[in-house]
Amino acid sequence: MAASRSDRLRHTVERLPLTRTVVARYVAGTEQSDAVRVAGELTGEGLAVTIDHLAEDTRDRSQATTVAQAYVSLLEALHKAELTPDVEVSVRLSSLGRALPADGEAIALENARQICQAAADAGTTVTLDMEEHTTVDYTLDVLRELRQDFADAGVALQAGLKRTEADCRDLTGQGSRVRLCKGAFDEPETVAFRDRGEIDRSYVRCMKVLFAGDGYPMIATHDPRLVEIAGSLAARHRREQGSYEYQMLYGIRPREQRRLVLAGERVRVYVPFGPQWYTYLVRRLAARPANLAFLLRSVASS
Ligand code: FDA
Repeated sequence: MAASRSDRLRHTVERLPLTRTVVARYVAGTEQSDAVRVAGELTGEGLAVTIDHLAEDTRDRSQATTVAQAYVSLLEALHKAELTPDVEVSVRLSSLGRALPADGEAIALENARQICQAAADAGTTVTLDMEEHTTVDYTLDVLRELRQDFADAGVALQAGLKRTEADCRDLTGQGSRVRLCKGAFDEPETVAFRDRGEIDRSYVRCMKVLFAGDGYPMIATHDPRLVEIAGSLAARHRREQGSYEYQMLYGIRPREQRRLVLAGERVRVYVPFGPQWYTYLVRRLAARPANLAFLLRSVASS
């Protein structure tokens, strides 16, 4: 995680010849055209897609506007390539300006609204990523605002947070789209479960709430046990395939993604793209030691 914040390491890694190979496994590329191409390949295999534009930390309003415009342009390109509605976008409110002084929260809401409008025009949807626990209330407020005009806007919730089961209960209504993930942030014990077993049990409790509700659960995990439990819950609640979906990250357990599709399940792949891939990539590698072996093999063969 420290590596993901180191500018020096970042510059070194970006210059390594192996970078392209490793990055290509987890990131579509640096350009919008890369994202559209990969989305086309994945949908051709029966997968749905959500695209995340990897942007720098937003330091001023014009940067936030640039990110919003990049999403609008991406959505137009996806529509033109006839990839909607199977391809939607994922958006981080921090990249839309949330943390800017003074009007940051209002700026991010306005930018999110523009992206939702572009998504609606393209016939698809937007899901809000969830960030640090301090931003959950704000993100859910934004979701509520957006859903007044764009009922299909969705949100990610993190099972690692103690509050999430209650948040799931609030979001079980008709048309509610909740992406349940474990949570990628190192949060304090006061608000989060720290033990992996506890996080998994929380995940199961949250899934139970979502599957019992009237909304559209989006089960975002690579964990084979949780995927299996999701399948049992779907059966128990007599949910038809397509009334919920699985989600996994691009490059992670690709064979499992295709196995689920062959079994008739709806599976969405989270595809990041953009020049700012470094932090994302290092976090993916840090999340699982076996991925470091993959990196080292790439070094050896480059
Ligand atoms: P975990 O990391 O515990 O892994 C469980 C098992 O899955 C492993 O034992 C292994 O079998 C398999 N596995 C996991 N990683 C693997 C890998 N790299 N290669 C091979 N097998 C692997 N977080 C957040 O805080 N906010 C958000 O908005 C989102 N959004 C989001 C969207 C989508 C579509 C996904 C899939 C994930 C997120 N996340 C997220 C990230 C999420 O919170 C979490 O950090 C990662 O998904 C890893 O957690 P797992 O549930 O995969 O379990």
